Amino acid sequence: MEPILEMKAITKRFPGVLANDNVNLDLYQGEIHALIGENGAGKSTLMSVLFGMYTPEEGEIFYKGQKLDIDGPQDAIELGIGMVHQHFMLVPTLTVAENIILGSEPKRGLKIDIEKAIAKVNELANKFGLQVDATAKVKDIPVGMQQRVEILKALYRGAEVLILDEPTAVLTPQEVEGLYQIMESLTEQGKSIIFITHKLKEVLRISDRITVLRKGKGIGTVTTSETNQKELARMMVGREVLLEVEKEEADFGEVLVEVSNLSAFNDRGMEALNSVSFQIRAGEILGIAGVEGNGQTELVEVLTGLREATAGEYNLHGDSLYNHSARKIKEAKVAHIPEDRHKHGLVLDYTVEDNLVLGYHYREPFAKGINLNFNNLAEHANRLIPEYDIRPQNKEALARSLSGGNQQKIIVAREFDLGPEFLIASQPTRGVDVGAIEFIHRRILEQRDEGKAVLLVSAELPEVISLSDRIAVMYEGEIVDIVDAAEATEEKLGILMAGGSLEGGIANGS
Ligand SMILES: Nc1ncnc2c1ncn2[C@@H]1O[C@H](COP(=O)(O)OP(=O)(O)OP(=O)(O)O)[C@@H](O)[C@H]1O
Ligand SMILES: [Mg+2]
Repeated sequence: MEPILEMKAITKRFPGVLANDNVNLDLYQGEIHALIGENGAGKSTLMSVLFGMYTPEEGEIFYKGQKLDIDGPQDAIELGIGMVHQHFMLVPTLTVAENIILGSEPKRGLKIDIEKAIAKVNELANKFGLQVDATAKVKDIPVGMQQRVEILKALYRGAEVLILDEPTAVLTPQEVEGLYQIMESLTEQGKSIIFITHKLKEVLRISDRITVLRKGKGIGTVTTSETNQKELARMMVGREVLLEVEKEEADFGEVLVEVSNLSAFNDRGMEALNSVSFQIRAGEILGIAGVEGNGQTELVEVLTGLREATAGEYNLHGDSLYNHSARKIKEAKVAHIPEDRHKHGLVLDYTVEDNLVLGYHYREPFAKGINLNFNNLAEHANRLIPEYDIRPQNKEALARSLSGGNQQKIIVAREFDLGPEFLIASQPTRGVDVGAIEFIHRRILEQRDEGKAVLLVSAELPEVISLSDRIAVMYEGEIVDIVDAAEATEEKLGILMAGGSLEGGIANGS
Protein backbone atom coordinates (compact mmCIF):
# COMPACT_ATOMS: atom_id res chain seq x y z
CA MET A 1 0.00 0.00 0.00
CA GLU A 2 1.22 3.50 -0.87
CA PRO A 3 1.02 6.22 1.76
CA ILE A 4 -1.76 8.74 1.24
CA LEU A 5 0.61 11.53 2.22
CA GLU A 6 4.38 11.99 2.09
CA MET A 7 6.45 14.89 3.35
CA LYS A 8 9.97 14.64 1.95
CA ALA A 9 13.08 16.42 3.18
CA ILE A 10 11.23 19.43 4.60
CA THR A 11 13.42 22.30 5.78
CA LYS A 12 11.91 25.39 7.39
CA ARG A 13 13.89 28.24 8.96
CA PHE A 14 12.90 31.17 11.11
CA PRO A 15 15.36 33.99 11.74
CA GLY A 16 18.13 32.30 13.72
CA VAL A 17 16.23 29.00 14.12
CA LEU A 18 16.30 25.88 11.98
CA ALA A 19 12.83 24.66 12.95
CA ASN A 20 12.66 21.70 10.52
CA ASP A 21 15.88 20.22 9.19
CA ASN A 22 15.40 17.78 6.32
CA VAL A 23 12.39 16.02 7.90
CA ASN A 24 10.45 13.10 6.39
CA LEU A 25 6.99 11.90 7.38
CA ASP A 26 4.52 9.59 5.69
CA LEU A 27 0.93 8.72 6.52
CA TYR A 28 -1.27 5.80 5.45
CA GLN A 29 -4.99 5.98 4.98
CA GLY A 30 -6.82 5.04 8.17
CA GLU A 31 -3.69 5.50 10.25
CA ILE A 32 -3.23 7.36 13.52
CA HIS A 33 0.32 8.67 13.31
CA ALA A 34 1.75 10.31 16.41
CA LEU A 35 4.30 13.11 16.10
CA ILE A 36 6.30 13.59 19.28
CA GLY A 37 9.34 15.51 20.48
CA GLU A 38 10.54 18.01 23.05
CA ASN A 39 9.18 21.54 23.28
CA GLY A 40 10.48 23.46 20.31
CA ALA A 41 11.42 20.30 18.37
CA GLY A 42 9.49 21.58 15.35
CA LYS A 43 6.22 19.60 15.48
CA SER A 44 3.79 22.50 15.09
CA THR A 45 6.02 24.01 12.42
CA LEU A 46 6.04 20.80 10.35
CA MET A 47 2.28 20.57 10.56
CA SER A 48 1.87 24.25 9.71
CA VAL A 49 3.93 23.58 6.58
CA LEU A 50 1.53 20.78 5.67
CA PHE A 51 -1.45 23.05 6.33
CA GLY A 52 0.00 25.76 4.09
CA MET A 53 0.66 28.30 6.83
CA TYR A 54 4.41 28.28 6.21
CA THR A 55 6.28 27.78 2.96
CA PRO A 56 9.31 25.53 3.51
CA GLU A 57 12.68 26.54 2.06
CA GLU A 58 13.19 23.01 0.84
CA GLY A 59 11.28 19.77 0.46
CA GLU A 60 8.25 18.32 -1.26
CA ILE A 61 4.82 17.09 -0.25
CA PHE A 62 2.96 14.33 -2.11
CA TYR A 63 -0.73 13.64 -1.54
CA LYS A 64 -2.49 10.72 -3.22
CA GLY A 65 0.48 10.42 -5.57
CA GLN A 66 0.41 14.07 -6.65
CA LYS A 67 3.06 16.63 -5.80
CA LEU A 68 1.39 19.46 -3.94
CA ASP A 69 1.85 23.13 -4.35
CA ILE A 70 0.17 24.47 -1.23
CA ASP A 71 -0.15 28.21 -1.03
CA GLY A 72 -2.05 29.02 2.15
CA PRO A 73 -4.49 27.09 4.37
CA GLN A 74 -7.34 27.60 1.89
CA ASP A 75 -5.44 25.38 -0.57
CA ALA A 76 -4.83 22.75 2.08
CA ILE A 77 -8.50 22.75 3.05
CA GLU A 78 -9.58 22.34 -0.57
CA LEU A 79 -7.25 19.35 -0.89
CA GLY A 80 -8.85 17.75 2.17
CA ILE A 81 -6.31 18.58 4.87
CA GLY A 82 -7.69 19.96 8.14
CA MET A 83 -5.86 21.19 11.24
CA VAL A 84 -6.90 21.68 14.84
CA HIS A 85 -4.37 24.10 16.30
CA GLN A 86 -2.53 23.96 19.63
CA HIS A 87 -4.34 27.14 20.67
CA PHE A 88 -7.96 27.21 19.62
CA MET A 89 -8.90 29.64 16.91
CA LEU A 90 -12.66 29.90 17.45
CA VAL A 91 -14.50 33.20 17.70
CA PRO A 92 -15.86 33.32 21.26
CA THR A 93 -18.83 35.58 20.56
CA LEU A 94 -20.19 33.48 17.69
CA THR A 95 -22.27 30.34 18.07
CA VAL A 96 -20.93 26.84 17.55
CA ALA A 97 -22.68 26.53 14.16
CA GLU A 98 -21.48 29.95 13.03
CA ASN A 99 -17.89 29.06 13.94
CA ILE A 100 -18.07 25.78 12.09
CA ILE A 101 -19.37 27.28 8.85
CA LEU A 102 -17.29 30.46 9.02
CA GLY A 103 -15.62 30.91 5.64
CA SER A 104 -17.74 28.31 3.83
CA GLU A 105 -21.28 29.36 4.66
CA PRO A 106 -24.27 27.89 2.83
CA LYS A 107 -25.94 30.88 1.17
CA ARG A 108 -29.56 31.61 0.27
CA GLY A 109 -29.30 34.49 -2.14
CA LEU A 110 -26.77 36.71 -0.40
CA LYS A 111 -27.86 35.74 3.09
CA ILE A 112 -26.35 32.98 5.15
CA ASP A 113 -28.75 30.08 5.61
CA ILE A 114 -28.30 29.46 9.32
CA GLU A 115 -31.06 26.82 9.54
CA LYS A 116 -29.34 24.77 6.90
CA ALA A 117 -26.00 25.25 8.63
CA ILE A 118 -27.36 24.01 11.95
CA ALA A 119 -28.91 20.97 10.26
CA LYS A 120 -25.64 20.13 8.54
CA VAL A 121 -23.62 20.58 11.74
CA ASN A 122 -25.99 18.27 13.62
CA GLU A 123 -25.80 15.68 10.88
CA LEU A 124 -22.00 15.66 10.96
CA ALA A 125 -21.98 15.63 14.76
CA ASN A 126 -24.17 12.53 14.78
CA LYS A 127 -22.18 10.76 12.10
CA PHE A 128 -18.93 11.05 14.04
CA GLY A 129 -20.29 11.01 17.58
CA LEU A 130 -19.12 14.55 18.30
CA GLN A 131 -21.71 16.00 20.66
CA VAL A 132 -21.98 19.79 20.47
CA ASP A 133 -24.64 22.39 21.15
CA ALA A 134 -24.93 24.07 17.73
CA THR A 135 -26.74 27.18 18.97
CA ALA A 136 -24.60 27.92 22.08
CA LYS A 137 -22.00 30.68 21.97
CA VAL A 138 -18.44 29.35 21.99
CA LYS A 139 -17.52 31.47 25.03
CA ASP A 140 -20.14 29.62 27.08
CA ILE A 141 -19.10 26.04 26.32
CA PRO A 142 -16.41 23.95 28.07
CA VAL A 143 -13.02 23.36 26.41
CA GLY A 144 -13.84 19.73 25.66
CA MET A 145 -16.74 20.86 23.52
CA GLN A 146 -14.60 23.58 21.91
CA GLN A 147 -12.25 20.80 20.90
CA ARG A 148 -15.11 18.93 19.24
CA VAL A 149 -16.18 22.13 17.49
CA GLU A 150 -12.67 22.53 16.05
CA ILE A 151 -12.73 18.95 14.78
CA LEU A 152 -16.21 19.42 13.29
CA LYS A 153 -15.02 22.59 11.61
CA ALA A 154 -12.29 20.61 9.84
CA LEU A 155 -14.68 17.77 8.93
CA TYR A 156 -17.28 20.26 7.63
CA ARG A 157 -14.70 21.38 5.11
CA GLY A 158 -14.28 17.81 3.94
CA ALA A 159 -11.00 16.92 5.67
CA GLU A 160 -9.62 13.49 4.82
CA VAL A 161 -6.36 14.07 6.66
CA LEU A 162 -6.78 15.58 10.10
CA ILE A 163 -3.94 17.20 12.03
CA LEU A 164 -4.50 17.43 15.80
CA ASP A 165 -1.88 19.59 17.53
CA GLU A 166 -1.83 18.65 21.23
CA PRO A 167 -5.55 18.03 21.35
CA THR A 168 -5.54 16.58 24.86
CA ALA A 169 -3.50 19.22 26.70
CA VAL A 170 -6.61 21.11 27.78
CA LEU A 171 -8.94 18.16 28.27
CA THR A 172 -10.01 16.34 31.43
CA PRO A 173 -9.25 12.60 31.55
CA GLN A 174 -12.91 11.86 30.74
CA GLU A 175 -12.80 14.15 27.73
CA VAL A 176 -9.55 12.56 26.58
CA GLU A 177 -11.25 9.18 26.59
CA GLY A 178 -14.06 10.64 24.47
CA LEU A 179 -11.57 12.08 22.03
CA TYR A 180 -9.89 8.69 21.51
CA GLN A 181 -13.20 7.13 20.65
CA ILE A 182 -13.79 9.92 18.14
CA MET A 183 -10.33 9.41 16.63
CA GLU A 184 -10.97 5.70 16.28
CA SER A 185 -14.34 6.20 14.66
CA LEU A 186 -12.78 8.71 12.25
CA THR A 187 -10.09 6.29 11.11
CA GLU A 188 -12.65 3.49 10.80
CA GLN A 189 -14.45 5.76 8.36
CA GLY A 190 -11.31 6.14 6.29
CA LYS A 191 -9.86 9.37 7.68
CA SER A 192 -6.16 9.60 8.51
CA ILE A 193 -4.86 11.44 11.56
CA ILE A 194 -1.58 13.04 12.59
CA PHE A 195 -1.62 13.54 16.33
CA ILE A 196 0.82 15.66 18.36
CA THR A 197 1.12 15.05 22.09
CA HIS A 198 3.59 14.92 24.98
CA LYS A 199 1.82 12.11 26.77
CA LEU A 200 3.70 8.93 26.01
CA LYS A 201 1.09 6.66 27.55
CA GLU A 202 -1.50 8.13 25.21
CA VAL A 203 0.79 7.72 22.23
CA LEU A 204 1.33 4.06 23.00
CA ARG A 205 -2.36 3.42 23.38
CA ILE A 206 -3.83 5.26 20.46
CA SER A 207 -1.31 5.43 17.61
CA ASP A 208 -0.27 2.99 14.87
CA ARG A 209 3.13 4.53 14.23
CA ILE A 210 5.21 7.26 15.86
CA THR A 211 7.62 9.78 14.36
CA VAL A 212 10.08 11.48 16.72
CA LEU A 213 11.60 14.92 16.15
CA ARG A 214 14.50 16.35 18.12
CA LYS A 215 15.82 19.88 17.65
CA GLY A 216 14.28 20.14 14.21
CA LYS A 217 15.57 16.78 12.92
CA GLY A 218 13.66 13.57 12.28
CA ILE A 219 15.06 10.92 14.64
CA GLY A 220 12.98 8.08 13.22
CA THR A 221 9.60 6.47 12.79
CA VAL A 222 8.70 3.41 14.87
CA THR A 223 5.78 1.00 14.97
CA THR A 224 3.84 1.55 18.18
CA SER A 225 3.51 -2.12 19.08
CA GLU A 226 7.30 -2.52 18.93
CA THR A 227 8.32 0.32 21.25
CA ASN A 228 7.87 1.51 24.84
CA GLN A 229 7.88 4.67 26.97
CA LYS A 230 11.53 4.43 27.84
CA GLU A 231 12.71 4.11 24.26
CA LEU A 232 10.47 6.98 23.14
CA ALA A 233 11.70 9.24 25.93
CA ARG A 234 15.28 8.47 24.99
CA MET A 235 14.63 9.17 21.30
CA MET A 236 13.00 12.49 22.20
CA VAL A 237 15.49 13.79 24.72
CA GLY A 238 18.68 11.98 23.73
CA ARG A 239 19.27 10.65 27.25
CA GLU A 240 17.55 8.54 29.90
CA VAL A 241 14.63 10.33 31.54
CA LEU A 242 13.39 9.65 35.03
CA LEU A 243 9.76 8.76 34.47
CA GLU A 244 9.22 8.23 38.18
CA VAL A 245 9.59 10.96 40.79
CA GLU A 246 12.31 10.39 43.39
CA LYS A 247 11.22 11.98 46.61
CA GLU A 248 13.01 12.43 49.93
CA GLU A 249 11.26 11.91 53.25
CA ALA A 250 9.26 15.03 54.12
CA ASP A 251 10.30 17.20 57.05
CA PHE A 252 7.31 19.27 58.08
CA GLY A 253 7.61 22.52 60.03
CA GLU A 254 5.02 24.86 61.45
CA VAL A 255 1.75 25.66 59.67
CA LEU A 256 2.45 28.30 56.99
CA VAL A 257 -0.83 28.52 55.13
CA GLU A 258 -4.15 28.45 56.89
CA VAL A 259 -7.41 28.57 55.00
CA SER A 260 -10.69 28.41 56.91
CA ASN A 261 -14.24 28.29 55.64
CA LEU A 262 -13.40 30.03 52.39
CA SER A 263 -16.35 30.60 50.06
CA ALA A 264 -16.67 32.29 46.67
CA PHE A 265 -18.92 32.62 43.65
CA ASN A 266 -18.01 31.73 40.09
CA ASP A 267 -18.34 34.09 37.10
CA ARG A 268 -22.01 33.28 36.73
CA GLY A 269 -22.69 34.30 40.34
CA MET A 270 -23.19 30.74 41.57
CA GLU A 271 -21.49 29.31 44.63
CA ALA A 272 -18.24 27.71 43.43
CA LEU A 273 -16.37 27.36 46.75
CA ASN A 274 -18.26 26.28 49.80
CA SER A 275 -16.52 26.68 53.13
CA VAL A 276 -13.16 25.22 52.17
CA SER A 277 -10.60 24.67 54.95
CA PHE A 278 -7.07 23.29 54.95
CA GLN A 279 -3.60 23.92 56.30
CA ILE A 280 -0.22 23.54 54.66
CA ARG A 281 2.91 23.19 56.75
CA ALA A 282 6.38 24.39 55.87
CA GLY A 283 7.97 21.65 53.78
CA GLU A 284 4.69 20.22 52.64
CA ILE A 285 2.97 19.76 49.28
CA LEU A 286 -0.79 19.66 49.44
CA GLY A 287 -2.26 18.30 46.21
CA ILE A 288 -5.74 19.12 45.03
CA ALA A 289 -7.47 16.40 43.07
CA GLY A 290 -10.85 16.73 41.45
CA VAL A 291 -12.68 16.64 38.18
CA GLU A 292 -12.15 20.00 36.55
CA GLY A 293 -14.89 22.48 37.33
CA ASN A 294 -15.39 21.51 40.98
CA GLY A 295 -14.02 24.75 42.42
CA GLN A 296 -10.28 24.26 41.95
CA THR A 297 -9.97 27.21 39.57
CA GLU A 298 -11.91 29.53 41.87
CA LEU A 299 -9.89 28.39 44.90
CA VAL A 300 -6.63 29.28 43.18
CA GLU A 301 -8.06 32.59 42.01
CA VAL A 302 -9.08 33.54 45.55
CA LEU A 303 -5.69 32.53 46.95
CA THR A 304 -3.88 34.64 44.34
CA GLY A 305 -6.12 37.70 44.57
CA LEU A 306 -7.76 37.24 41.18
CA ARG A 307 -11.23 36.62 42.65
CA GLU A 308 -12.98 37.96 45.73
CA ALA A 309 -14.06 35.55 48.43
CA THR A 310 -17.49 35.96 50.03
CA ALA A 311 -16.49 34.56 53.42
CA GLY A 312 -13.68 32.87 55.30
CA GLU A 313 -10.08 33.39 56.36
CA TYR A 314 -6.75 33.10 54.57
CA ASN A 315 -3.49 33.49 56.47
CA LEU A 316 0.17 33.13 55.56
CA HIS A 317 2.54 33.05 58.56
CA GLY A 318 -0.40 34.22 60.64
CA ASP A 319 -0.89 37.37 58.55
CA SER A 320 -4.20 37.73 56.78
CA LEU A 321 -4.19 37.85 52.98
CA TYR A 322 -7.98 37.56 52.81
CA ASN A 323 -9.26 39.52 49.78
CA HIS A 324 -5.98 41.34 49.33
CA SER A 325 -5.08 42.47 45.81
CA ALA A 326 -3.09 40.23 43.49
CA ARG A 327 -0.14 42.59 43.86
CA LYS A 328 -0.24 42.56 47.67
CA ILE A 329 -0.43 38.80 47.68
CA LYS A 330 2.53 38.58 45.33
CA GLU A 331 4.45 40.91 47.64
CA ALA A 332 3.75 38.53 50.51
CA LYS A 333 5.75 35.98 48.45
CA VAL A 334 2.95 33.91 47.09
CA ALA A 335 4.04 32.64 43.66
CA HIS A 336 1.59 31.44 41.06
CA ILE A 337 1.95 29.21 38.02
CA PRO A 338 -1.41 29.87 36.38
CA GLU A 339 -3.59 27.36 34.62
CA ASP A 340 -4.20 29.63 31.64
CA ARG A 341 -0.78 30.96 30.67
CA HIS A 342 -2.13 33.25 27.98
CA LYS A 343 -4.63 34.95 30.24
CA HIS A 344 -2.60 35.38 33.41
CA GLY A 345 0.98 34.31 32.87
CA LEU A 346 2.46 36.02 29.83
CA VAL A 347 2.22 39.03 27.57
CA LEU A 348 2.80 37.44 24.17
CA ASP A 349 4.02 40.64 22.53
CA TYR A 350 6.65 41.28 25.21
CA THR A 351 10.14 39.81 25.00
CA VAL A 352 11.27 36.79 26.97
CA GLU A 353 13.36 39.14 29.13
CA ASP A 354 10.35 41.28 30.05
CA ASN A 355 8.12 38.27 30.66
CA LEU A 356 10.73 36.91 33.06
CA VAL A 357 9.99 39.83 35.42
CA LEU A 358 6.32 40.36 34.60
CA GLY A 359 4.50 41.41 37.76
CA TYR A 360 7.81 41.95 39.58
CA HIS A 361 9.29 44.66 37.35
CA TYR A 362 8.43 47.52 39.72
CA ARG A 363 10.59 46.05 42.46
CA GLU A 364 14.25 46.07 43.25
CA PRO A 365 16.58 44.95 41.80
CA PHE A 366 14.69 45.57 38.55
CA ALA A 367 13.53 49.06 39.41
CA LYS A 368 14.80 51.97 41.49
CA GLY A 369 12.20 54.64 42.00
CA ILE A 370 10.48 54.96 38.67
CA ASN A 371 13.43 53.78 36.57
CA LEU A 372 13.88 50.27 35.32
CA ASN A 373 17.36 48.90 35.76
CA PHE A 374 18.04 47.40 32.35
CA ASN A 375 21.32 45.77 33.33
CA ASN A 376 19.67 43.79 36.05
CA LEU A 377 16.82 42.80 33.74
CA ALA A 378 19.32 41.49 31.21
CA GLU A 379 21.39 39.68 33.83
CA HIS A 380 18.28 38.07 35.23
CA ALA A 381 17.29 36.81 31.76
CA ASN A 382 20.83 35.67 30.94
CA ARG A 383 20.86 33.55 34.07
CA LEU A 384 17.36 32.06 33.87
CA ILE A 385 17.25 31.18 30.16
CA PRO A 386 19.98 28.52 30.37
CA GLU A 387 19.01 27.43 33.89
CA TYR A 388 15.44 26.63 32.82
CA ASP A 389 16.47 25.55 29.32
CA ILE A 390 14.23 28.08 27.60
CA ARG A 391 14.67 27.70 23.85
CA PRO A 392 15.74 29.48 21.73
CA GLN A 393 18.29 31.11 24.04
CA ASN A 394 17.36 34.61 22.99
CA LYS A 395 16.09 37.09 25.56
CA GLU A 396 14.98 39.51 22.83
CA ALA A 397 12.60 37.00 21.23
CA LEU A 398 8.90 37.76 21.61
CA ALA A 399 7.08 35.27 23.81
CA ARG A 400 4.67 34.73 20.90
CA SER A 401 7.41 33.18 18.76
CA LEU A 402 8.29 30.52 21.35
CA SER A 403 6.78 27.04 21.25
CA GLY A 404 3.98 26.29 23.72
CA GLY A 405 6.14 24.41 26.20
CA ASN A 406 8.86 27.03 26.19
CA GLN A 407 6.28 29.68 27.01
CA GLN A 408 5.33 27.61 30.06
CA LYS A 409 9.00 27.41 31.09
CA ILE A 410 9.21 31.25 31.18
CA ILE A 411 6.44 31.36 33.78
CA VAL A 412 7.92 28.54 35.80
CA ALA A 413 11.36 30.20 35.81
CA ARG A 414 9.97 33.55 36.93
CA GLU A 415 7.76 32.21 39.69
CA PHE A 416 10.37 29.84 41.13
CA ASP A 417 13.19 32.31 40.95
CA LEU A 418 11.59 35.08 42.91
CA GLY A 419 11.76 33.06 46.09
CA PRO A 420 8.21 32.18 47.12
CA GLU A 421 7.11 31.25 50.63
CA PHE A 422 3.92 29.76 49.25
CA LEU A 423 3.91 28.32 45.74
CA ILE A 424 0.58 27.75 44.01
CA ALA A 425 1.09 25.59 40.94
CA SER A 426 -1.91 24.99 38.67
CA GLN A 427 -1.42 22.34 35.98
CA PRO A 428 2.32 23.15 36.06
CA THR A 429 3.35 20.58 33.46
CA ARG A 430 0.53 21.05 30.97
CA GLY A 431 1.93 21.03 27.45
CA VAL A 432 5.57 20.55 28.42
CA ASP A 433 7.75 17.67 27.30
CA VAL A 434 9.03 14.75 29.38
CA GLY A 435 12.39 16.36 30.07
CA ALA A 436 10.71 19.56 31.26
CA ILE A 437 8.21 17.60 33.36
CA GLU A 438 11.08 15.88 35.12
CA PHE A 439 12.73 19.27 35.71
CA ILE A 440 9.57 21.01 36.98
CA HIS A 441 8.83 18.11 39.33
CA ARG A 442 12.33 18.32 40.78
CA ARG A 443 11.94 22.07 41.28
CA ILE A 444 8.62 21.69 43.07
CA LEU A 445 10.18 19.12 45.41
CA GLU A 446 13.13 21.45 46.00
CA GLN A 447 10.72 24.16 47.13
CA ARG A 448 9.21 21.72 49.57
CA ASP A 449 12.59 20.57 50.84
CA GLU A 450 13.59 24.20 51.40
CA GLY A 451 10.68 24.50 53.80
CA LYS A 452 8.17 26.25 51.56
CA ALA A 453 4.47 25.47 51.36
CA VAL A 454 3.19 24.20 48.02
CA LEU A 455 -0.35 23.86 46.71
CA LEU A 456 -0.42 21.66 43.61
CA VAL A 457 -3.54 21.56 41.46
CA SER A 458 -3.36 19.09 38.63
CA ALA A 459 -5.72 17.09 36.47
CA GLU A 460 -3.04 14.39 36.19
CA LEU A 461 -3.68 12.00 39.06
CA PRO A 462 -0.28 10.26 38.81
CA GLU A 463 1.36 13.67 39.15
CA VAL A 464 -0.72 14.59 42.22
CA ILE A 465 -0.09 11.22 43.85
CA SER A 466 3.65 11.13 43.25
CA LEU A 467 4.45 14.71 44.28
CA SER A 468 2.03 15.47 47.13
CA ASP A 469 2.35 14.69 50.81
CA ARG A 470 -1.38 14.96 51.37
CA ILE A 471 -4.20 15.19 48.84
CA ALA A 472 -7.42 17.16 49.25
CA VAL A 473 -10.23 16.02 47.00
CA MET A 474 -12.67 18.63 45.75
CA TYR A 475 -16.21 17.90 44.72
CA GLU A 476 -18.89 20.48 43.97
CA GLY A 477 -16.98 23.29 45.63
CA GLU A 478 -16.14 21.43 48.83
CA ILE A 479 -13.17 19.50 50.12
CA VAL A 480 -14.74 16.11 50.67
CA ASP A 481 -11.68 14.44 52.13
CA ILE A 482 -7.98 14.91 52.77
CA VAL A 483 -5.94 11.75 52.39
CA ASP A 484 -2.34 10.75 52.92
CA ALA A 485 -0.62 10.58 49.53
CA ALA A 486 1.29 7.45 50.54
CA GLU A 487 -2.01 5.60 50.82
CA ALA A 488 -3.76 7.19 47.85
CA THR A 489 -4.40 5.32 44.62
CA GLU A 490 -6.08 6.48 41.44
CA GLU A 491 -9.05 4.25 42.23
CA LYS A 492 -9.56 5.64 45.74
CA LEU A 493 -9.24 9.23 44.55
CA GLY A 494 -11.55 8.48 41.64
CA ILE A 495 -14.30 7.40 44.03
CA LEU A 496 -13.95 10.57 46.10
CA MET A 497 -13.76 12.74 42.98
CA ALA A 498 -17.07 11.35 41.81
CA GLY A 499 -18.68 12.32 45.13
CA GLY A 500 -18.43 8.89 46.77
CA SER A 501 -16.90 8.14 50.18
CA LEU A 502 -14.35 5.62 51.40
CA GLU A 503 -15.64 3.08 53.91
CA GLY A 504 -13.25 2.67 56.81
CA GLY A 505 -11.42 5.71 55.46
CA ILE A 506 -7.86 6.54 54.64
CA ALA A 507 -8.46 10.02 55.90
CA ASN A 508 -5.74 11.89 57.66
CA GLY A 509 -6.82 15.49 57.79
CA SER A 510 -4.28 17.22 59.97
N1 LIG B 1 6.57 32.21 13.98
C1 LIG B 1 7.79 31.94 14.46
N2 LIG B 1 8.80 32.84 14.43
C2 LIG B 1 10.02 32.55 14.90
N3 LIG B 1 10.36 31.35 15.44
C3 LIG B 1 9.42 30.41 15.50
C4 LIG B 1 8.08 30.64 15.03
N4 LIG B 1 7.35 29.52 15.22
C5 LIG B 1 8.17 28.63 15.79
N5 LIG B 1 9.42 29.16 15.95
C6 LIG B 1 10.59 28.44 16.52
O1 LIG B 1 10.74 27.22 15.81
C7 LIG B 1 11.09 26.16 16.70
C8 LIG B 1 10.08 25.04 16.59
O2 LIG B 1 8.84 25.49 17.16
P1 LIG B 1 7.50 24.61 17.16
O3 LIG B 1 6.41 25.51 17.59
O4 LIG B 1 7.37 23.93 15.85
O5 LIG B 1 7.82 23.54 18.29
P2 LIG B 1 6.91 22.34 18.86
O6 LIG B 1 7.64 21.07 18.58
O7 LIG B 1 5.53 22.47 18.34
O8 LIG B 1 6.99 22.60 20.44
P3 LIG B 1 5.86 22.51 21.63
O9 LIG B 1 5.81 21.09 22.05
O10 LIG B 1 6.44 23.33 22.72
O11 LIG B 1 4.58 23.05 21.07
C9 LIG B 1 11.19 26.78 18.07
O12 LIG B 1 12.54 27.09 18.31
C10 LIG B 1 10.37 28.05 17.96
O13 LIG B 1 10.84 29.03 18.86
MG1 LIG C 1 3.72 22.97 19.21
